[in-house]
Amino acid sequence: MNLGDVRAVVTGGARGMGRHFAQAFAAEGANVVFCDVGAESVAAAASEIGVKGIAADVSREDDVERLFAEAEELMGGPVNVLLNNAGILRDGLLLRKDKETGAVKVLDKAKWDAVLAVNLTGPFLCARQFAKRAVETDTRPAVVVNMSSISRAGNMGQSNYAAAKAGLVADTATWARELARYGIRVGAIAPGFIRTPMVEEMRPEMLEKMVQPVPMRRIGEPSEIWEAVRFIVRCDYFTGRVVEVDGGLVL
Ligand SMILES: NC(=O)c1ccc[n+]([C@@H]2O[C@H](COP(=O)([O-])OP(=O)(O)OC[C@H]3O[C@@H](n4cnc5c(N)ncnc54)[C@H](O)[C@@H]3O)[C@@H](O)[C@H]2O)c1
Repeated sequence: MNLGDVRAVVTGGARGMGRHFAQAFAAEGANVVFCDVGAESVAAAASEIGVKGIAADVSREDDVERLFAEAEELMGGPVNVLLNNAGILRDGLLLRKDKETGAVKVLDKAKWDAVLAVNLTGPFLCARQFAKRAVETDTRPAVVVNMSSISRAGNMGQSNYAAAKAGLVADTATWARELARYGIRVGAIAPGFIRTPMVEEMRPEMLEKMVQPVPMRRIGEPSEIWEAVRFIVRCDYFTGRVVEVDGGLVL
């Protein structure tokens, strides 16, 4: 698929990697809109990067339906690329035993629910609505890109995030098989540690500790993840698989 033919929705595009992807799509001649939570941050990001934004929460069914209807209208045709990028972290160990009192504190169910809602239910709702509209309008080719993570292999303090990101890879394979007959491909990307506002705010010693086991000895750049997005969109024989862009790190 040529980028000039793309009408893309990027979720979570107000900052971080999503913002970079929205800008990169536009720079390469694609039609693109992004969504994010909070009308103010959406409006601010939209004017800063010159890409249209829609306030929508990917974990809400009604928001997702409205998102695709508005995106279709803004871009003058059905969406043919969905980048499921929105994600959140609510880290915590499954349990922690206090050394002095012996009291055992467990991971809050609210943290579990929040991460699953945004990182797994969100992509499900978006992919479902995207595919429904593509099939209804016979829009093909069409491509879904799911943003997983190196943490899908399991990572200390990330029961919720690891489960969501592994689930997203399982559904990448599932949706690829189910949707191929309609001309819809589905791929995933599993980034390692990437330079985003969250990472840049870390203390230098924490960052050093994080980078130490990475064979490339540095964190990745959003532009390096964009190369994977671009590849998945453009390569018509790629579906059901994960592109790992992590500097060689294995968790
Ligand atoms: N940064 C990394 O090192 C890294 C590594 C692996 C995977 N990832 C994944 O890449 C994606 C982007 O990460 P990032 O580092 O740019 O994160 P980020 O926190 O900088 O940006 C995520 C964006 O998603 C938005 N968002 C959150 N909840 C939302 C919701 N319910 N509906 C719509 N938008 C919502 C946020 O407001 C934010 O703008 C995430 O899925 C993340 O899990 C990041």
